[in-house]
Amino acid sequence: MKRLPVFGLLAGFFMHAAIAAESPALDDKQAFIDSLIERMTLEEKIGQLRLISIGADMPQPKILEELQAGHIGGTFNSVTRHDNRPMQEAARRSRLGIPIFFAYDVVHGHRTIFPIGLGLASSWNLPTIARSGRVAAIEASADGLDMTFAPTVDISRDPRWGRTSEGFGEDPYLVSEIARTMVKAYQGESVAAPDSIMASVKHFALYGAVEGGRDYNVVDMSPMRMHQDFLPPYRAAVEAGAGGVMVALNAINGVPASANSWLLRDLLRRDWGFRGMTVSDHGAISELLRHGVAQDGREAARLALKAGIDMSMADSLYRDELPGLVRDGEVEIGEIDAAVREVLGAKYDMGLFHDPLRRIGAAADDPQDVDAESRLHRAEARAVARESLVLLENRAQTLPLKKSGTIALVGPLADSPLDMLGSWSAAGVAAQAVTLRQGLTAALAGKATLLHARGANITDDPHLVEYLNFLNWDTPEVVQDPRPAAQMIAEAVAAAERADVVIAAVGESRGMSHESSSRTSLQIPPSQQALLRALKATGKPLVLVLMNGRPLELGWAKANADAILETWFSGTEGGHAIADVLFGDYNPSGKLPISFPRSVGQIPTYYNHLRVGRPYVEGKPGNYTSQYFEEPTGPLYPFGYGLSYTDFELSHVSLSSAELRLPGTLQASVKVKNSGSRDGAAVVQLYIRDQVASVIRPVKELKAFRKVMLKAGEEREVRFDIGEKDLRFFNAQLRQVAEPGEFEVQIGLDSQQVRSAAFILR
Ligand code: BGC
Repeated sequence: MKRLPVFGLLAGFFMHAAIAAESPALDDKQAFIDSLIERMTLEEKIGQLRLISIGADMPQPKILEELQAGHIGGTFNSVTRHDNRPMQEAARRSRLGIPIFFAYDVVHGHRTIFPIGLGLASSWNLPTIARSGRVAAIEASADGLDMTFAPTVDISRDPRWGRTSEGFGEDPYLVSEIARTMVKAYQGESVAAPDSIMASVKHFALYGAVEGGRDYNVVDMSPMRMHQDFLPPYRAAVEAGAGGVMVALNAINGVPASANSWLLRDLLRRDWGFRGMTVSDHGAISELLRHGVAQDGREAARLALKAGIDMSMADSLYRDELPGLVRDGEVEIGEIDAAVREVLGAKYDMGLFHDPLRRIGAAADDPQDVDAESRLHRAEARAVARESLVLLENRAQTLPLKKSGTIALVGPLADSPLDMLGSWSAAGVAAQAVTLRQGLTAALAGKATLLHARGANITDDPHLVEYLNFLNWDTPEVVQDPRPAAQMIAEAVAAAERADVVIAAVGESRGMSHESSSRTSLQIPPSQQALLRALKATGKPLVLVLMNGRPLELGWAKANADAILETWFSGTEGGHAIADVLFGDYNPSGKLPISFPRSVGQIPTYYNHLRVGRPYVEGKPGNYTSQYFEEPTGPLYPFGYGLSYTDFELSHVSLSSAELRLPGTLQASVKVKNSGSRDGAAVVQLYIRDQVASVIRPVKELKAFRKVMLKAGEEREVRFDIGEKDLRFFNAQLRQVAEPGEFEVQIGLDSQQVRSAAFILR
């Protein structure tokens, strides 16, 4: 992490008098923090380890009282400078005047909402992803926030898990690249800068591998798989300088992450060299009782602290139990000091000792209207969202559509602002989100007729509606149209019959792909399927615009729709971005960051699976190979897949040498040509297959990619360097090695259609 520059006189001016009076110079971080710790009472130290949720944990007057007593280290869930200022001022009035920090779940945008994690990942464009993170940091810091609980880098191979939506997909390489990118985007040049926020990568670790995709469930995983496939993204975030790590709610091989000293001490701090602050997830320390590893709160607090959790989130156990544990000698004061040191260190790095109001500023500068349009970054949101859309089907060049004639827009997601935002939409305002209906209306203004009918509710199952509305305590998430389903469908069919083409916006409500939203099915809900079937029966060209936060089962859609555009939850500017693609003002370039299984029974389906002794061979069906006999083998849509309005051709792969001698590198290159008639971007993906090794290796692994923009007719050579680091894996002793032997280089525009060449590692 970049350290704070010296602010000289200015720093002294901002620093609280009580700290300034006796502190060593602020520019010596360790000495400054040590001297502070020396002067802190046990109660003040324990106060630093407490992270409270504003609006949930206690009433406001009590919060101010506790802050002034030095009993709170940080808060989350308050999102304006106006709200945060009195809290910071109360903390400054405490005996030592130690500032607090303000955190929030800024996961895919703050006021301007960008596409959800899966959408960002679909861009396969790191600068684009960075842009979303930088804007989020600028907006969040302008609201007085210092830290985000992001990025979420949990690898997910099980789309039943609702939080698949938040992560960046199934692949360790792609997710690691994004993890690094996001940390740097949030933290900027220096995490102390007024327009930077500290990243707290989550959920450490393996949260995406919960059993059966059931949220909060256990994870049981071999160490080899862990190191090879699931841990790299967290490590990448740590190496990029993430100041914080949020600990996962799940257990790992029998020990809850929140009580797991192997995870938090041996791996994170000792092996990876993490120097920042760890926070528990919401209430996770109390949950140690329900996991059945702690007898009572006292034991839970002891386990968590000793395991290495510095701050306890939304949980009073540290506060209630640590004093007694220290008194009775069960916890050493040195252990408390170590945790306090990390918390103070994070505050130091965020620049809060230099100026506690660094991101809050003066009251006179507060925005008059926090939701003002002028505070949004719409152009950036539209540009990012366009790149996140994945064209799955386009029969007979149904798309792009012409801006003429009559278009029927139907479906429960066609005009639903809240759903555009997706889950964890921070301070995003639904009314500011552009729906698909609004996007089409703007694009078509005066040029074509747009008919609209809702056609169906998200679901007709009252239990589901009740559940989804229960998840959000402010406003109902899912608002039902009370008309009978048949009447709504008839209205949609009537619109379709009058139109030249039908666009159906279907999928999931945002709450269906959220925390605590595990599903047993990946189907588009039956109410919407009935609508689609009725639309199909009209014979009109049918374009599906999918909104969803996980891979869905799309067998029927693939067979029946004329075009399918996967839009995830595309954010504040989603409606415009989707219209840009539907009408060809932007040529789609998104690629799937996660495989789409044919059915829920195929889960887990992921491209980089291990090799087996009896592999299924394409075109040679038969018994006694690894397959399901009722369904074709492999995903419906593979990892890395996505169409364009133009065509690309790849040449054969050429290698600079048939041998790689370390420590050298070799170059693999291909020529990619835009052989169609429109400009467009291709994502050239490089996979490596290790032919023989001491342990079973995956069939292939992504090792590099490049997004290249090509004009119609343009051809360009794309060259990748391959070196030792690309050939390494964790062996049976969990050592990272590259073993000599034959490797296959595969280059393609998705993970399945590839060109290959081979080399020997000597
Ligand atoms: C989630 C975290 C989130 C935290 C604070 C928890 O329920 O698991 O991802 O950061 O709440 O909002």
